[in-house]
Amino acid sequence: MTTLQKAEAADHALSQEMDRLVIVKSAIYTSGERDPREPLPRQDDRGKLHLMGHDPRLPRMPDKPTLFDYFKYRFGPATHMLQSARLAQKNGVSEKIVLACLLHDIATSGFIRADHGYWAAQLVEPYVDPEVTFAIRYHQVLRFYPDDSVGYRYPDSYIRLFGADFKPEPYLHRAYEYARGHKWYMTARLLTVNDLYSFDPNVHVELEEFTDVVGRHFRQPEEGLGFDDSPSAHMWRTIMWPTRYL
Ligand SMILES: [Fe+2]
Ligand SMILES: [Fe+2]
Repeated sequence: MTTLQKAEAADHALSQEMDRLVIVKSAIYTSGERDPREPLPRQDDRGKLHLMGHDPRLPRMPDKPTLFDYFKYRFGPATHMLQSARLAQKNGVSEKIVLACLLHDIATSGFIRADHGYWAAQLVEPYVDPEVTFAIRYHQVLRFYPDDSVGYRYPDSYIRLFGADFKPEPYLHRAYEYARGHKWYMTARLLTVNDLYSFDPNVHVELEEFTDVVGRHFRQPEEGLGFDDSPSAHMWRTIMWPTRYL
């Protein structure tokens, strides 16, 4: 079989499998595009089964997935996080902060965007030092507040993205004040200092560069991320199987 024939055969197999399945999107995928209070548009489910496992449109993940497997098979391009981790390393900060940089935006790239610092922190909380979780959770908030002592300014990109008069919600302001007074404030702050979007576009960073840092500071569960009964295992499974009916 030629490569083209193989691709066509795979396409055909996929469309046959899709014909047999009903795939329903979670409310959060579509809330806003549609009013979540409305009943879901009825799909023709005659002779079909509701998807209860792997989504055939996605690459299959290993039986015992690792953190890097999620990067490879479920997260969007990780350039920003990789470059930020590399920059942190170059700036000579602790390995905990390098790890926090590597993981800080996993929620926007693979899960849920709104309140992404909180979601990312919750995802990794069972596997990393609490200081890493703290930095990831509060980087979202601290990004809105300058700190001259480390040369961190309000990002120009935020003025472009959110407008000049955007003001963080009161809950974010409270979170900022809490983080500001916390013993790990500087850890979270250093994450924001290395959270740069204007790094050299020609610098290519491989995930594997961080194998050792991850090995030392991320407690990879033996059963695979998602199957270890940790408080966030179900969240990892949802990333792996985002369209399961239940
Ligand atoms: Fe972020
Ligand atoms: Fe970021």
